[in-house]
Amino acid sequence: MTAQAPARPRARFNPLTVTEVRPLTDNAVEVTFAVPDDLVADYDYVPGQYVALRATVDGKEVRRSYSICAAPVPGEIRVAIKKTLGGVFSTWANEKLAVGDVIEVMNPQGAFTAKVRTTAMNDPQGIVDDQLEANPRARLVAFAAGSGITPVMAIATTTLASSPDATFELVYSNRSTVDVMFAEEIGDLKDRYPDRFTVHHILSRENRTSPLHTGRIDDEKLSLMLDRMLGAGDVEEWFLCGPFDLVQTARDELKDRGIPEDRVRFELFTTGKPTTPAGQQGRDIEVKADEPTFDISFTLDGSSATVESPRSARETVLNAALRKRPDVPFACAGGVCGTCRAKLVSGSCDMDENFALEPDEVEAGYVLTCQSRPTSDAVEVDFDA
Ligand SMILES: Cc1cc2nc3c(=O)[nH]c(=O)nc-3n(C[C@H](O)[C@H](O)[C@H](O)COP(=O)(O)OP(=O)(O)OC[C@H]3O[C@@H](n4cnc5c(N)ncnc54)[C@H](O)[C@@H]3O)c2cc1C
Ligand code: FES
Repeated sequence: MTAQAPARPRARFNPLTVTEVRPLTDNAVEVTFAVPDDLVADYDYVPGQYVALRATVDGKEVRRSYSICAAPVPGEIRVAIKKTLGGVFSTWANEKLAVGDVIEVMNPQGAFTAKVRTTAMNDPQGIVDDQLEANPRARLVAFAAGSGITPVMAIATTTLASSPDATFELVYSNRSTVDVMFAEEIGDLKDRYPDRFTVHHILSRENRTSPLHTGRIDDEKLSLMLDRMLGAGDVEEWFLCGPFDLVQTARDELKDRGIPEDRVRFELFTTGKPTTPAGQQGRDIEVKADEPTFDISFTLDGSSATVESPRSARETVLNAALRKRPDVPFACAGGVCGTCRAKLVSGSCDMDENFALEPDEVEAGYVLTCQSRPTSDAVEVDFDA
């Protein structure tokens, strides 16, 4: 039997207008985009998904992904952007992006979504199933750090509003109180759902009364938190979003405790290693006469093309494909977002990193083209599959 993987919509950019820029902290803003009527269906999303933004910053095209931070409202998309020290896009967005600006916004992508039902309206690709209806008292737990709160806010807000008996426990780690994003909204959730929503603020550089709430979350502290801080009972789904080390620590600990992997969803914003900056994808590569090459074929929007890739260049399928078609979809170029997903139709590739594809997608033959380098003379991938 051929393995089936969930369909994902084809990634496309559209110019959207900024309607609000709201400071969340000294170093983070929430940006709202208006979605015109004819695009409302394309920008329908499941809480936890992200959009890629594309803009010209200092004369260069830059694209970066940002998670949607609000429960779905037709006609708008809200993201939260935290300034990264020395970061090109996030600094520009915090300092320059203004109401009335128009930038390119990709339609929502990503699988960091609750498997439990959230809203009836927002299940555009049939990703969400009915587990919550089967288990109305579902208990959800999230570990978020810094800007990793963004998708978690969308998931928590929607789940609590749409599932009257579900509970949500949030462990949110920051350096200090002034770094806490969505402090007001988190307070509102506590007021609105006192019996169903719990938050534990962990501050790494400020002393709190309890040692468990102070300092970095390492494996020892995490283990104590799971034993002493969180409520008792089976957790339906775990959500992890933050720096690579925190997410890995939590995944390892949950695995050691025998929690099935399909109950643990995680989203990485970076791999924690230096990766090829997204702006360098599609770099020019000269193909010299008589040099051995790989033939990389791809199908996108129903039309196919083949590009030669010198073996010595060791380039990715995405990099080669971008030489023929600049609209080949990608965002992070680091193996974390999944935007560049395609199905391997023939040939073979080595995939460097994969923090984005689910096991069933890999089994069904999908690859991250930004991470895949040919290992056979000819490789064919299909971005439409
Ligand atoms: C699926 C997904 C969802 C995301 N959601 C969010 C979100 O909701 N909110 C959010 O704030 N972020 C989010 N991110 C992260 C976001 O996409 C960006 O990675 C982040 O904003 C940094 O981008 P930047 O352009 O500002 O930094 P970059 O310019 O990409 O730099 C990143 C870091 O690398 C350093 N650096 C850059 N170039 C060099 C160099 N040549 N040598 C050494 N160091 C260098 C910079 O100093 C900086 O610390 C998400 C990422 C993904 C993949
Ligand atoms: S572009 Fe993000 S995983 Fe390839």
